[in-house]
Parts: sequence; structure tokens; C-alpha cells
Amino acid sequence: MAKSPAFTCTACGAVYTKWSGRCEGCGAWNTIVEEAPLSSGPGKQSLGNKRGAALTLTDLSAKEPPPPRTASGMAEFDRVLGGGLVPASATLVGGDPGIGKSTLLLQAAARLAEAGLKTLYISGEEATAQIRMRAARLGLAEAPVRLASATSLRDILTTLEAERPGLVIIDSIQTMWADTVDSAPGSVAQVRAAAHELTSFAKRRGAAVILVGHVTKEGQIAGPRVVEHMVDTVLYFEGERGHQFRILRSVKNRFGPADEIGVFEMTGRGLAEVANPSQLFLAGRGAPAAGSVVFAGIEGTRPVLVEFQALVAPTSLAQPRRAVVGWDNARLAMVLAVLEARCAIPFAGLDVYLNVAGGLRIADPAADLAAAAALLSAREDIALPPEAVVFGEISLSGALRPVPQSENRLKEAQKLGFTTAIVPSGGKAGGGKDMKLRDYGDLAALVGEMFGAG
Ligand code: TYD
Ligand code: MG
Repeated sequence: MAKSPAFTCTACGAVYTKWSGRCEGCGAWNTIVEEAPLSSGPGKQSLGNKRGAALTLTDLSAKEPPPPRTASGMAEFDRVLGGGLVPASATLVGGDPGIGKSTLLLQAAARLAEAGLKTLYISGEEATAQIRMRAARLGLAEAPVRLASATSLRDILTTLEAERPGLVIIDSIQTMWADTVDSAPGSVAQVRAAAHELTSFAKRRGAAVILVGHVTKEGQIAGPRVVEHMVDTVLYFEGERGHQFRILRSVKNRFGPADEIGVFEMTGRGLAEVANPSQLFLAGRGAPAAGSVVFAGIEGTRPVLVEFQALVAPTSLAQPRRAVVGWDNARLAMVLAVLEARCAIPFAGLDVYLNVAGGLRIADPAADLAAAAALLSAREDIALPPEAVVFGEISLSGALRPVPQSENRLKEAQKLGFTTAIVPSGGKAGGGKDMKLRDYGDLAALVGEMFGAG
């Protein structure tokens, strides 16, 4: 039987049995290339026909000590990793070009090298002189990090086998090039081969390998998502270009909690840790204004207070605008629908803008109520009490649902001087003498009391 060749889109990784000019998966032109099938060559039939080595099986109950971790001493970085870097692990750090990945990793490399890890920083994007200049700017010129500028995977692996480092940083995986693979650097096949070789090296030699990956406009690691499956940990470095805040977020972690965040600030001397993000996110808040609401959220394991800002204005368009920054579009649509259907507050003919101040992206479902309060406050032009924080989930029936970790949210709010919390009824946390709770069973009740409508 003739073997059908495999064709892969180098932009999105979709697989086809025949070539075509345009990828149906992502719509890109001229990105489909032929890939050598894995099982080609004579004598390679089913694996089951060959005798392999027998595996050593163990019990589920066997005692396994926790992995020894190396902490960098940058608390924000270590927390996201789950307490420090684990040996024999592969980590992918993704983010938009220019967001600060190289800066973050050079700083982390310097700290980890000082903590005793033999550290190699290999850049395929910058010359060593450029990296040295950055290190000098960051005040890290004396750190015992070894540098190289290279893209040949063969040379890099040879060097790694000879040097046996404890930590290797590859900046970036899209610039690496394996001479065994017949396609251009940055293509799916190349990136996959490079990630495979480097993670195998990590497992084989007990090194920690950190791969930098650029992200496409659609928010994917450029080209192949396959890399995400190959590594133990995937971190995203995100932030708005115009803002100085940067968030390091774990989206997958085999050695620690996922969805943990670390907060940094980009300064003239590199990334500074932000130990108290709430303070920073609320710092620019002016006088109490309609449409501004402080949300007491939880990101990962940590409470974070941020400001939700809404603007509601008559539209000049046939189709009113709905624009969101830092929150989910679909959830905004849902909250607007609930306000219309359950509270009789129409938004037809009105443009709606919602913004999370500071450039943070909120994924916590408890933000529903904060968004609803901001929208109502903007629409009715009534400012909320400035000493109040808001959190709670909204269901489609208009009922308010209690959310986890109320206690932590309230504690953080109290620490920052807030004295009132607007929350769903039935939550576990009670107020104290310094924290007054105003709780509501459904959205209509809140609308009636606070805005005299509904
Ligand atoms: P970089 O780490 O090169 O981004 P990436 O590797 O993700 O592409 O960061 C580049 C940006 O960071 C650049 O616009 C300049 C800025 N920057 C600072 O503001 N302060 C600094 O100390 C450094 C080193 C960079
Ligand atoms: Mg870079």
C-alpha cells in the first residue's frame, strides 16, 4: 500500500493528506508543506512486532520525595513556578514580542546562577554584546551566567552535553534550527523538533530548560501549540504595551498550581517585583466617579483589588458598540442581557465600554457583579460609595451567587482601607466591625436599592 504523505500548515499546525494553496484551518496562504512521515523507511512496520525492552513497573504508593527546587529569590517569579525551578523540567515562557521576556529571563537567570545553578543563556535573536549591554543596564554584569549566541540545535546540544548546566534558557524556540528537519526556522516542524530535543535533554540530564516563545496575534505560541503539550510548565508574560505592569501567569504547571500570577513593573532598570499589586492597581484612582467600581478579585492564590471602569453613552451607530479591555466579551454580553431581561434596564441605543484599569486581565467569575455595578453606575450617572468593594457571580436568572475565598477578598479590601462590601447573600464570610456587608439575593434587589430603578 502506498503511504499517504502528510502535509502540515506551518502557521497553525493543521494536518492534511494532500497539498493545497490555502489552509482551511487558519486561512493562511502558501503555508502548507509536506512533512516526512515518522514511520517511513524499509523494515519499519508495526512496533508491536519488534521485541522491545521490558519496562520496570512500580506501585502507585511508592514514596517519591518532592522535587528539590531552586528559588531565584524573586518572589513573584518563584510563586508562579510553584516555589522555584524544578530540575529535569521544561518550561515555556510565551508572550508578545517586546513585552519583556528576555529581560525577565535574564534577571531570573542571574538570580538562579547566584543561587548556585550552573546557568547558560543561549540567544538566537541577539548577539552576546547586546545581551551584555542589557545585563549592564540591569546591574547584572557580574552575575555568573554563561552566554552564547546560536541557532544551530546540533551545536547547542553538543555544548549542553559537554557543559552539563543546571539551567538552560533558549531565547527563542522560534529561532532554533535543526539540520535534520527540512524546513525553515520558525516552522511547525522545526519548532517541534527543537522543543523535543531540548525537553529530552532536560529529562535525560536533569537540567531545567526554559524556552522562550513568541505569541501570535491570536494569542497562540507562534506556529505550533504542540510545544505546550511537550513541556511541563507553560507561563504567559502579558501586559498592555502602554502600561508598565506585566503579569506572569501560569496556564499549565505539572509541579505547582495553574493560574497563579506574579506581578512586575517595567522600569528603566528592568522588571521590578510588585509585592502589593492592589495598591498599585488602585494608585491612579481619582475622585469618586460614576462608572468606577473597585472589584475584590482572586488571581491564583492571591487577592487583587482592581478598578472596573464603565462608560455608557448614546450611540450614533445603527449597531451600538460593545468594547471590553481586560475582561471577557461574552461575559459582558451576558451581564447586559441579565440587566435588560431581569432588571428592566435597557442598553439598546447605548454604546458600552468596559475597562479594567492597569492592564490586568480578569478571569475570576466573581467579576460579574463588579462589571454590572460599573455599568449601572455609568448608565444612571450615580457614583458608588468610594469606600465600597464589589464581588459576586451573576446567574442568568439574575440571582447572585456567593463566590469562593470571600474571607481573603474582604481581608485585602480592609487592608487597603475599604469599609463596605457589596456581595451576594449566603456567602460564608461575615462582616466585622470594620467591614460592613451589604448583601443581595439577586441583581434586581441591588438595582432597586442602589439606583432606585428596576
Ligand atoms: P524584551 O525583554 O527585549 O522583550 P521580549 O524579549 O519579550 O521581546 O523587552 C523589550 C522592551 O522592554 C523594550 O521595549 C524596552 C523595555 N525595557 C525597559 O523598559 N527597561 C529595561 O530595563 C529593559 C532591559 C527593557
Ligand atoms: Mg527577546
